[in-house]
Amino acid sequence: MIILETRSLKYTYPDGTAAVQDLNIEIKKGKKVAFVGQNGSGKSTLFLLLNGTLKPAEGEVLFHGVPFKYDSKSLREIRKSIGIVFQNSDDQIFAPTVYQDVAFGPANLGYSKERVDACVHQALEQVGLYRLKDKPPHHLSGGQKKRVAIAGIMAMEPEVIILDEPLSNLDPVGADEIIDLLNEFNQLGSTIIISTHDVDLAYRWSDYVYIMSNSKLIGQGTPAEVFKEQELLKKAGLRQPTTLEIYHEIERRGLARGKNSPKTVPELVSTLKPLDLMWVDVPPGVREGDNLNLGVMYGVYATQSPYEAINATVLHIHSGGRAIVELKRKGIKAGGVLLYDTDKYSLDEVRQIIKEGEIVFVGAMGKKSKTLAEQDGIRLDVTSGVIDKSILMALCGKRCLILTAGGMIDHALKRTREYVDKSGIEFTVGVVNREGGCKWLEEMDTNPETFKV
Ligand SMILES: Nc1ncnc2c1ncn2[C@@H]1O[C@H](COP(=O)(O)OP(=O)(O)OP(=O)(O)O)[C@@H](O)[C@H]1O
Ligand SMILES: [Mg+2]
Repeated sequence: MIILETRSLKYTYPDGTAAVQDLNIEIKKGKKVAFVGQNGSGKSTLFLLLNGTLKPAEGEVLFHGVPFKYDSKSLREIRKSIGIVFQNSDDQIFAPTVYQDVAFGPANLGYSKERVDACVHQALEQVGLYRLKDKPPHHLSGGQKKRVAIAGIMAMEPEVIILDEPLSNLDPVGADEIIDLLNEFNQLGSTIIISTHDVDLAYRWSDYVYIMSNSKLIGQGTPAEVFKEQELLKKAGLRQPTTLEIYHEIERRGLARGKNSPKTVPELVSTLKPLDLMWVDVPPGVREGDNLNLGVMYGVYATQSPYEAINATVLHIHSGGRAIVELKRKGIKAGGVLLYDTDKYSLDEVRQIIKEGEIVFVGAMGKKSKTLAEQDGIRLDVTSGVIDKSILMALCGKRCLILTAGGMIDHALKRTREYVDKSGIEFTVGVVNREGGCKWLEEMDTNPETFKV
């Protein structure tokens, strides 16, 4: 279903700059969409047209198939449903305190005082700024202002959230948190539209990409379609995403299997052709024809690794304890990515799972889960890029636990299961503290090779 669309849209600034020309887009409900293009290509102007802040010179914008009207009542309705976070936070933030700024939107929607309070509280927690709620926004850092602006829009729970350069000014972990948050809103049904110069982000995050250049659309499609078009990227002044660039190098050297467009590091790793023969150091006593269990230690396969990752047969032993082995990938031992729903948090339970589930790697996603872990002294090995890092660990036969809640659970499950399905490498994936959770853990212990939730 198309939620937002434009037909022959044109906008010219009063000084005569044609900033958007003949623009036709159709944005489907529930999608994550990225607009990518050089400075001055018209992204911000388009976004201002998409929520009625600017009125087109020609053409129209339609929401749920109904053309925008520009009287103040219609515009209020549009802005209730289509929230925009401006590129420059100073254009957005104006109230005397952070709290009042975030409360402005929900209060304008006519919510009760209690509901406004609940929305503001939640939104500020989500962007990690609750402790600054009484500060004047103009005393905040650039990244903090950005988070306030994002919280202000999130608090209104709009159907469509438009964010103009949402990650500019944010530190890497803060940027990951905002992406997690956008994914969570998307899981709950919101359509998310962003502009970005970050081709890596557009490539790995979005469902659909539009490329803009010189006030026009010059390309569109799924990220895999758009980012393989070298000529298009050149014309738009963009570069290839890094994972794709590395993949093409691997492919050129004949080391890749199948035709792929890997988006994440784990996907990239799984495109590598298995090495059949390799050298390893073996302990004395190992003979030709022996079967070995190898694990990854400090990035290389080794017999003394505590984690069994792969079986190998010794073909030849060289002097000095070096051997040529033939790898048998089928023997990969299952690691696991376990999720813990912090909406049903109990510290004792988490401790028990970490101990009895032989968890060696713990991560948290979302502010709430991170705060809980911090408060209770749960050591976190990872707080950004958590899903990918856990998958990489699970591939080495380790068990990981991710503390998270809400829509991020489904997002993590989906991503991890997709990886298991695509790569053909099995490891266990599931939520440990949902119904039957502990039973699940026991079953996994008795049958780790094959059990899959
Ligand atoms: N208020 C304005 N008055 C006149 N021209 C403007 C105004 N705002 C933007 N422009 C011009 O319109 C064109 C599109 O600008 P816009 O801000 O939409 O680009 P953008 O793609 O968002 O760029 P960036 O990546 O730098 O944010 C540019 O040529 C710019 O100079
Ligand atoms: Mg812009």
